[in-house]
Amino acid sequence: MSGLVVAIDGPSGSGKSSVARGVAVALGLAYLDTGAMYRAATLWCLTQGTPLTDRHAVAEQVRALPLEIDLDPAAPAVRVAGEDVSVAIRATEISSAVSAVATNLEARAELGRRQRTVIEDESTGGWSGGRGVVAEGRDITTAIAPDADVRVLLTASEAARLSRRAKELHGSDDEAAVAATRDQVVRRDADDATVVEFQVAADGVVTVDSSDLNLEQTVAAVLDVVAQVAPR
Ligand code: DC
Repeated sequence: MSGLVVAIDGPSGSGKSSVARGVAVALGLAYLDTGAMYRAATLWCLTQGTPLTDRHAVAEQVRALPLEIDLDPAAPAVRVAGEDVSVAIRATEISSAVSAVATNLEARAELGRRQRTVIEDESTGGWSGGRGVVAEGRDITTAIAPDADVRVLLTASEAARLSRRAKELHGSDDEAAVAATRDQVVRRDADDATVVEFQVAADGVVTVDSSDLNLEQTVAAVLDVVAQVAPR
């Protein structure tokens, strides 16, 4: 029997990463943050001096990206050329630039190929010993793992998403903090949505709305979906 594959997509601030980690911990599965791969690719291009507007040069850099990912949901880490960049890839500079890589179709093809390899490896062995993987991003339920055992679209109202991101980035969700976050959440999702549909659930994908749920409740809601669609 092959491992369990849980695919979770959703927009910025939907709580995807924390929820996916929580689900992976609860089920003893590996955790793959595909957004971190786009972020690491962006950091790599910037440090290599590759202009993000040069699509072919970016794609070439991404094909050469010396990326390693730790899949332990209790301690996820991302390394580029041996250096831990887990914190650096969360910088505002990267958040503002990452859409240039995420909308580059050649770069998507390369990162998508690597993501499919991780998912396949974890289904049969890898870090999880074949128990499986929770993979989260924007196109996992549709393009990367359309045959996943469980496919969830995690949504939340724009107000809830802005408030969460503002707290994360500024420690507050007052008016000024929300205004400062709007560009990152709303503009970035609008840019990304030009190449990937992640705001409407595809056929067979279960929507979980986290607007009025805390992290624990959202993890429980996704675990319920897992129990219903892939009982083991
Ligand atoms: O989830 P995040 O904010 O870390 O994602 C970073 C960027 O990567 C964001 O612009 C969306 C993009 N992304 C994507 O296009 N496809 C994925 N599977 C994951 C992320």
